[in-house]
Amino acid sequence: MTAGPGTTTATTTAPTGRSGEQPAIEGRSLSKVYGLSDRQAARALASDDPAAAVSAAGGYLGASDVSFSIGKGEMFVVMGLSGSGKSTVLRMVNRLNEPTAGELLIDGEDITRVSDARLREIRNNDIGMVFQHFSLFPHRTVRDNAAYGLKVRGVGRAERRDRAEAALARVGLGDRGDKMPHELSGGMRQRVGLARALAVDPPILLMDEPFSALDPLIRRDMQDLLLELQAEDRRTTVFVTHDLNEAMRIGDQVMVMRQGRVVQCAPGAEIVAHPADDYVSEFVADVDRARVLTAYDLLRPAKLVFSADDRPDEALRRLGDNEAQGAFVVGADERLLGVVTDAALLGAANRGDQDLTGAVTQDFHTVEPTAHIGDFMHRAGRQVVPVTVVDERGRLRGVVPRATILSTLSTAPLAEREADERLEVAVSA
Ligand SMILES: Nc1ncnc2c1ncn2[C@@H]1O[C@H](COP(=O)(O)OP(=O)(O)O)[C@@H](O)[C@H]1O
Ligand SMILES: [Mg+2]
Repeated sequence: MTAGPGTTTATTTAPTGRSGEQPAIEGRSLSKVYGLSDRQAARALASDDPAAAVSAAGGYLGASDVSFSIGKGEMFVVMGLSGSGKSTVLRMVNRLNEPTAGELLIDGEDITRVSDARLREIRNNDIGMVFQHFSLFPHRTVRDNAAYGLKVRGVGRAERRDRAEAALARVGLGDRGDKMPHELSGGMRQRVGLARALAVDPPILLMDEPFSALDPLIRRDMQDLLLELQAEDRRTTVFVTHDLNEAMRIGDQVMVMRQGRVVQCAPGAEIVAHPADDYVSEFVADVDRARVLTAYDLLRPAKLVFSADDRPDEALRRLGDNEAQGAFVVGADERLLGVVTDAALLGAANRGDQDLTGAVTQDFHTVEPTAHIGDFMHRAGRQVVPVTVVDERGRLRGVVPRATILSTLSTAPLAEREADERLEVAVSA
């Protein structure tokens, strides 16, 4: 277990987006006690076992010692089962939920200490919110619904209309402004909710399970839309979900919660590769690893790497010693020149070649470190060298052996089946 106070919850595991930059949002040892007076809560939190003390006093510890750090422009996902404290944490960011203890800093300003007037200002100017049920007004047009956030902020009529239209266009509803909500499908109504937040254009967006009520295909569309918007806006976003696949797809960082505590906070791929405990492992078991893990996550050093001016007979001997059929050849600048096979080396040796340049072929595929397993696993086992990972400057970074792909996917039952099918296709092709 690593969920003790100040271990995985520490800000050290939650790097800011860019080094040295002040986080956009920072939570420091946030706790939330429900159902007790401030004094009772404070006493319970000060005890050795706050959760037990709170419950003995008749309250409930909704969030316990939660710390995190969110960089500017980051998509920060809070994930966990129902009741794990996700909404509790999210709503502390704009103090819809008053923290019982701890600090919440927005651009360095501790909003747990600001005046009511300042809080209103922050909520109005800096933070937008999107909920699971967008609660559109049924008797107002789509445009008026999208403009609602602007209206409550006192924006004039003409500007409201323009900004609402622009936001609707961004979510693919540019021609639906005059419709009424009931004329739209469920997915489209959620787009109106998103447009409402976008129209205000806040630097921070809080989203509480916004897509959880949608069916899977529409949900995926909405995730794609959010990713598109995020690529353009780079808006600091806190996104709550109970779905790990969704978390992996959209999150730059994922904070996994359990019983009010942070269990792990890391980029999605790291969580899949190194789950902090059994709770996270169970979540991860359902994830489609092929879509989450990248070549970089599975990278191994290449075993046989020759230099272009090695001798063919010597290279052939080393190939034999390693029971390999092929190897990589790199140039003086470390760039990958290609591969050599045993047959090509034999030919070069028989010709009396003094180096490997005449034996090198380009008959293999390379992938970038950021490629997902699902995009290259069908190539595994189809060439004399393993899946070959090359950086943007053409240098050999390492390999992903087929066995590594299989063992990685085999711990995820769903992905395994898919992997087997795709590898079969690849091998029989
Ligand atoms: N206003 C409240 N009063 C009492 N208990 C609450 C309140 N809000 C949430 N809780 C409790 O706190 C825990 C965490 O709730 P919540 O943050 O809503 O979880 P999640 O969003 O992960 O489903 C739950 O057990 C819930 O019952
Ligand atoms: Mg919730």
